[in-house]
Amino acid sequence: MNVVMIGSGYVGLVSGACFAEFGAKVTCLDVDEAKIESLKAGKIPIYEPGLDELVERNVAAGRLQFTTEYDPVVASADLVFIAVGTPTRRGDGHADLVYVYEAAKQIARHLSGYTVIVDKSTVPVGTARQVERLIGEENSGADFDVASNPEFLREGSAIGDFMRPDRVVLGVESERAEALLRELYRPINLIEAPIHVTNLESAELVKYASNAFLAVKISFINEIANLCEQVGADVHAVAKGMGLDGRIGKKFLHAGPGYGGSCFPKDTTALIRIAQENAASCRIVEAAVEVNAAQKARMVKKIREVLGGSESGKKIAVLGLTFKPETDDMRDSPSLAIIPNLIDKGAVVHAHDPQGVAEARKLLPQQVSYCDDVFAAVKGADLVVLMTEWNEYRGLDLVRIKQLMQGDAFVDLRNVYEPAQMRELGFRYVCVGRE
Ligand SMILES: NC(=O)c1ccc[n+]([C@@H]2O[C@H](COP(=O)([O-])OP(=O)(O)OC[C@H]3O[C@@H](n4cnc5c(N)ncnc54)[C@H](O)[C@@H]3O)[C@@H](O)[C@H]2O)c1
Repeated sequence: MNVVMIGSGYVGLVSGACFAEFGAKVTCLDVDEAKIESLKAGKIPIYEPGLDELVERNVAAGRLQFTTEYDPVVASADLVFIAVGTPTRRGDGHADLVYVYEAAKQIARHLSGYTVIVDKSTVPVGTARQVERLIGEENSGADFDVASNPEFLREGSAIGDFMRPDRVVLGVESERAEALLRELYRPINLIEAPIHVTNLESAELVKYASNAFLAVKISFINEIANLCEQVGADVHAVAKGMGLDGRIGKKFLHAGPGYGGSCFPKDTTALIRIAQENAASCRIVEAAVEVNAAQKARMVKKIREVLGGSESGKKIAVLGLTFKPETDDMRDSPSLAIIPNLIDKGAVVHAHDPQGVAEARKLLPQQVSYCDDVFAAVKGADLVVLMTEWNEYRGLDLVRIKQLMQGDAFVDLRNVYEPAQMRELGFRYVCVGRE
C-alpha cells in the first residue's frame, strides 16, 4: 500500500514512520525544506523517544522516504493523509485551515487513479466536506473519497500511542475508502484495538470533544486544588479518592500550573468557536479555558508571595520549560505564560530543560539564561520553580540544591515532592493544593 503523509511534524512523521513499520510504503512530505533535508540526512527535527530508531529502520528497509514534492508521490498513492498544522487563527480563536486547504489543492492537482484523502489534522466539523469540494473543483475528473481519521497520540509517548491506541476513529462514507483504511490499520486491529467507524462530522467532533473533556478535567482538579488550599485539604488525597471511582477514573486529575501544549489550548478555543457558529452552547469548555488562564496567573502570584511580594532582583531557577516531559514542544507551555511575567517584574531567570532549550530560546524573553545542568541553574538562586515534571527532576539531590541556593524557597508546580520532607530539608516549600 502506498501512503503519503502531507506534513511531517509531530503527527505526520510519527504516523508515517508507524505506518511504514506496519509494512506500508510511506512518503513523508513537507513544504519545510530544512526539515526534509534534515530527515534525509538521518536527523530527526523533533525530540520524541524512539522516533530516531523507528525512522532509521524503516528508511533502511526502503519503506520510508522524504520529499518536498507532490509529484510523483501523490499520483501513485492509495491514501494521502493531511497532517499539517491547524493553529489558532489570529483574532477569532477559530482553527486556521489555510494549510489544510493549501495541501488539499496541491493534492488535487497531482491525483491519478482512485485515492483516499484522509484528514488527520484536528479540524472543525465540516472541513472534510470542504476538502472534498475543493478537490472536486480543482480537478473535476479526480476519482477520490475523503475520510476523517483524527489522531490521538500524545507527545512523549507518541509511538506507543500510535501502535497501541485506545481506538482508531474513521469518519468514512464509502465502502472502498473504509476497506483501504481498515487494511492500513490491520496490525492495530490484530491487537484488538477498536476501530470506530462514523460519518465525517462525528469523527471530526470526537477529536475536539475528547480534548475538551480532558481540558475540563484538568481545570476541574485545579479549581479543587485551589479550594484545598483554602480549607486545609490535600488535593492528592482528594484526587485519589475521586479517581478510585471507576466512573471518574484517576487520569487527568493532577493539579498543576494549567494545561498547555500544541493541542488543548487551540482545540478548546476552536470548539467554542464551532459551537458559537452553530448557535450551540459550550459553557463548560468556556469555563475550563477561563480557569486555565487564571491558574497560570495564580502560579505567578504564588511565586511572588513566596518571595515576600516582589520578584525584583531575585534570582529564580526554573526547572523545565516544555509543556510536559519527554518532548521538546514549547507550544503554549505554561512556562511561556509564567516566565515573562517574572522577568517583567525584575526577576533574573536561570532555566534548565533536558530537551526544550532550542525551542525555548525562540519563544522566551532573551533575558533568560539557559544552564546545562540543574546545579548550574540553582546556584545562588533565591527560589527554585519546578515547572515540568521531567524524570530527572523527580529524584533531585535536594541537599546539594539547598546548599547551592542563596535562598530557601522551592515552588513545586507539579506536586512532585512531599511537603513534610521538603520542610524537613529546610525548604520553604509551596506546591499546588497541598498547603
Ligand atoms: N502534536 C500533537 O500531539 C498532536 C496530536 C494529535 C493531533 N494533532 C493535530 O495534528 C495536526 C498536526 O500537528 P503537529 O503537531 O504535527 O504540527 P507540526 O506543526 O509539528 O507539523 C505540521 C507540518 O506541516 C507542514 N506543512 C504545512 N503546510 C503544508 C503543506 N501545504 N504541504 C506540506 N506540508 C505542510 C509544516 O511545515 C509542518 O512541518 C494538527 O491539526 C494538530 O492539532 C497534534
